Amino acid sequence: MDDTSVLQQIKEAAAYIRGQYAEAPEIGLILGSGLGVIADLVERATVIAYRDIPHFPVSTVEGHAGELLLGTISGKHVLLMKGRFHLYEGYGVDVVSFPVRVMKELGVKTLIVTNAAGGVNTSFEVGDLMLIKDHINFTFRNPLIGPNHNELGVRFPDMSEAYNRGLRQTAHEVASGQGLKLKEGVYLGMLGPSYETPAEIRMIRTLGADAVGMSTVAEVIAARHAGIEVLGFSCISNMAAGILDQPLSHAEVMETTERVKPKFLKLIVGIVAKL
Ligand code: 6GU
Repeated sequence: MDDTSVLQQIKEAAAYIRGQYAEAPEIGLILGSGLGVIADLVERATVIAYRDIPHFPVSTVEGHAGELLLGTISGKHVLLMKGRFHLYEGYGVDVVSFPVRVMKELGVKTLIVTNAAGGVNTSFEVGDLMLIKDHINFTFRNPLIGPNHNELGVRFPDMSEAYNRGLRQTAHEVASGQGLKLKEGVYLGMLGPSYETPAEIRMIRTLGADAVGMSTVAEVIAARHAGIEVLGFSCISNMAAGILDQPLSHAEVMETTERVKPKFLKLIVGIVAKL
């Protein structure tokens, strides 16, 4: 894909979305496994199937719907991705980050990302919510590799505050107002789809991570490149390998996210109201 064609594709996808929903969304939301129900919060939602948006990929994994919702939460115009694209599905980082670029084109200023992640920090418990304060890109893929699209952002973007400090402060305030204690920590992104071995988890802990997952980092890099402020949350859906004496399963991930959903949902709405 050459330089002009990707920019053209972003513009065409954005133009299609604008044709379905005239207001510019200021907040983008990308929801992880099992958290798609936050979509229920969008008022007067316009639903657009990914397959109907020009150049948009279609997601394959179970538990991911593949729809874009545009509407309001607490009176703010939002664009919400119900289902995201993962490297383990075989998509390239350009595909995984494409929706973020479309968000930028549509006017999104703030991106809220959520994921289900394995707890690496042994003080965490299943069901905890972790505010992401930083990430480690252990996918070794970067959506900015190749010619820089100067229209989108600079060649060497700063990542020293990838997860915006002010937004994190707001998240803590809203959470404590709801009687919710947020954990805070570093998210490490892996390619997946196999979960890690206990030895890999010991390594990951030594490297300074508190949670591990298979998403988020490519999207956040693309967002920061585009000057979008980011707020991220991990739902600790299970403890990572070797911490508890039990095997990991996608079923546990889905069960935990299902259980945590109501408090997660309330937190997101509370934060959106404060933005
Ligand atoms: Cl333990 N590892 C990874 N890579 N992703 C996860 C997970 C673990 N638990 C939920 N998602």
